[in-house]
Parts: sequence; C-alpha cells; structure tokens
Amino acid sequence: MKAAPVFEAGNHRWWVLYDQDERRVIDSNVYIVESDGQSAVLDPGGFEIFPQVLAAVAEVVPPTSVAKAFVSHQDPDIASSLPLWNACNDHIQWHVPSLWEGFLRHYGALNAEFIGIPDEGGSMMVGSRKLDLVPAHYLHASANFHVYDPEAKVFFSGDVGAALLPPGHSNWVGGRQGGESAKAFDEHIQHARFFHQRWMPSGAAKKDWIDRVRQLDIEILCPQHGAIYAGENVQRFLNWFDGLTVGTAISR
Ligand SMILES: [Fe+2]
Ligand SMILES: [Fe+2]
Repeated sequence: MKAAPVFEAGNHRWWVLYDQDERRVIDSNVYIVESDGQSAVLDPGGFEIFPQVLAAVAEVVPPTSVAKAFVSHQDPDIASSLPLWNACNDHIQWHVPSLWEGFLRHYGALNAEFIGIPDEGGSMMVGSRKLDLVPAHYLHASANFHVYDPEAKVFFSGDVGAALLPPGHSNWVGGRQGGESAKAFDEHIQHARFFHQRWMPSGAAKKDWIDRVRQLDIEILCPQHGAIYAGENVQRFLNWFDGLTVGTAISR
C-alpha cells in the first residue's frame, strides 16, 4: 500500500492508501480523514491487507489518532479487518449501516462500539469537522452509505466509481490531480464499465443517488477501488453513470 495526499487545508486532511501491488486480492483504497489531530478510517479494508494498511496509516497519521471508523457496507474488502483494528484499539467508534450491524458481528469483535446509521443517513464528527453520511442504498449493497465533506468538497463514493485497474496504476484518473482530460477519462472508464453494469443492480437506485449527489458541491470523488476523479472528471463520471444500463445479469 502507498499513502498519498488527497486534500489539505491547515489541520484538515484527506489521504488515500492505495494498492499498486501484484494482484493478491482485489485492490482497495482506504481513506483517512484527519481533523484537529483526530483521524477516521473510511472503509478500513480486508483482513488480508490489514498489515499493509496499518503500515500506510502510520506513514501519515499516528495510529493512536484513529478514533473513528466508517463502514459503507458489509463486504469483506470493506470490513473484514474490523476485529484486527479492534484488537489494536477497542476505543474506535464504528459508524456502520444499522441494517448490517448483526451481520458485521460475524467478522468478530463483539465488543466493538457500533453506531448504527439509519436508512435516511446522518453524520459523524472527526475533530471539529462534520462529515455527512449520504444514503447510497442498493449501490451495490441493500444498506449503503457514502461520505461527504462539505468543507473539503471531497466525496467518498464507496464502490460507485470503482475501476479494476492494472497493477502500477495511478491513484488519480489522468495520472495526477489537475491532469484530468476527456481523453484520460474515456480511457479510464473502460476499466469501470463491467463493474458498474454487473455489480450495481438497480436503475432506480442509481437515479436516486445521482439526483442526490448532483446537489452537492464536489471537487474530488474518491472510490474504494481504482483511481480518484477530480475537477471536470467528477461531472463526467456522473453523466457516464447516468447513461449506463445496470443490473445486466438479469437482462440477458
Ligand atoms: Fe462492495
Ligand atoms: Fe468494494
């Protein structure tokens, strides 16, 4: 795993921890939000990659600063590291979809403190910053949330925007922040097409999410797999997703 900055303004920072290694498992991005010396881990990742994630966390923030964790949905690449994090620090507060609480306990860590997110969404504090927990149900999990930081204008979009890229890929679409172009987007999005067609089940859920997200002021859209969309690529992605047919396994 490598750590790279996503956003920085004073004591308010976002980091991405991303995987460029040989493909042992589906590569996953883990995000760290830091405010006033307190940190949150967003979608902390799988059991298999926990040692690499923890080492990358330690490159950017003191692991003891991690007081919060957010779990967008129940998948193993999101949350199966839960008992390992809890073994390191059982004071971490876990913001998880209420609907998934009973299932997430199957990963272990029965003593972990869960704060259930109701279907309508909510918020979580990191230091003095309030992050909005935005409903993204059925994209692809039946209870699912994304995270919006209105001050940073950063949106963590979970599996939406995910691309399965070759090893060695950049953490930004277009190679770097500010390097976005229509050509770079068109090349990148080919790696995202099948994933969205097959894993996203519902056109109605897609429309509901797009209507909600279009109302937000987003400069950086951060998916849990693949590269980050910035600048004009954010709107390009929303337009592309809007026009895509999903749920293809039952339309054949
Ligand atoms: Fe998932
Ligand atoms: Fe995922």
